[in-house]
Amino acid sequence: MPLITLRQALDAARQGGYGIGAFNVTDLVQVEAVLEAASEKSAPVIVQTIVGASAFRSDELFWEAMLGAVARYPEVPAVVHLDHGPDERSCERALAAGFSSVMIDGSVDHETKLPRSFEANIEITASVVAKARKLGVSVEGELGTIGGAESDGTPTTEIILADPAEAEEFVARTGVDALAVAIGTSHGAYKFTSPPDGSVLHMNLIEEIASRVPGTHLVMHGSSSLPADIREEINRVGGELPESWGVPEDEKARSTKLGVTKINQGMDSHMAYMAGLRGHLAQDRLTVDPAPAQKRGADRMRAIIAERMDVFGQAGHAEDHEWVPFGAAGM
Ligand code: 13P
Repeated sequence: MPLITLRQALDAARQGGYGIGAFNVTDLVQVEAVLEAASEKSAPVIVQTIVGASAFRSDELFWEAMLGAVARYPEVPAVVHLDHGPDERSCERALAAGFSSVMIDGSVDHETKLPRSFEANIEITASVVAKARKLGVSVEGELGTIGGAESDGTPTTEIILADPAEAEEFVARTGVDALAVAIGTSHGAYKFTSPPDGSVLHMNLIEEIASRVPGTHLVMHGSSSLPADIREEINRVGGELPESWGVPEDEKARSTKLGVTKINQGMDSHMAYMAGLRGHLAQDRLTVDPAPAQKRGADRMRAIIAERMDVFGQAGHAEDHEWVPFGAAGM
């Protein structure tokens, strides 16, 4: 089975009343961890990566390997998705590589880090949709800006919440399959300085936007929970991660009942991976062999992703749908 499109995966999720986790990966060991979790949980899954986010000099080399790994898990219906495509050229590269889904993040000009105008966002998004459609590839756009923080805690963009009326117009004029809506979440390992409440996470916006764009899927970005126990574990073996709160598990589960079908999560699995890696290195101070440390990291990553698959509801849904492989019958 198959590489499938985002549209197909999310349509099935909506039909089945569940959400699908989109897990960020930066190397092949992590790709395998995601696919292992999906196989173990019999779940459809979205594997996603950002341009330049891996240690590979060539994105294309890594992307090819991602697609090759997916082909080795015939029991897992998997979407291979470009996360936060910063410009049209990046999306074109992912299309050429064979990805079944791309995101064009037209909400921000990635050079200046300033928000793009609504019209400029529509223009770039519609242009990517036109190119992707010819290949049967799904497209995710973004409205509003999701906060983000660099590792030193400096915000890269301010949070601008998505506007429901604009969402309706954006979808009508671009034809995106999925829409990332800024509802107050924030990317990265340093999010909120206290547990987020309704003044931070605007969950009501999801429902309002979903009712206006019934044919489009909503995506919650910045959904990591930043588990305190993993942070403490990392700090016990040399890390210095400051206290920070993410999106509570029950809010993510609730979002899937309000209209979210794609839940983006990178930091939780990266924290788990690093806890395993650092834990191994701290225990075995004589080692010069990277593989056992990476294996321990991957195993921790697999475990947390499998847990999240239960929370999002995708577990157990790999076999209850007739998946059409990407490229067949325009899917
Ligand atoms: P986190 O930074 O919360 O893991 O979210 C990842 C994400 O939204 C990628 O697009």
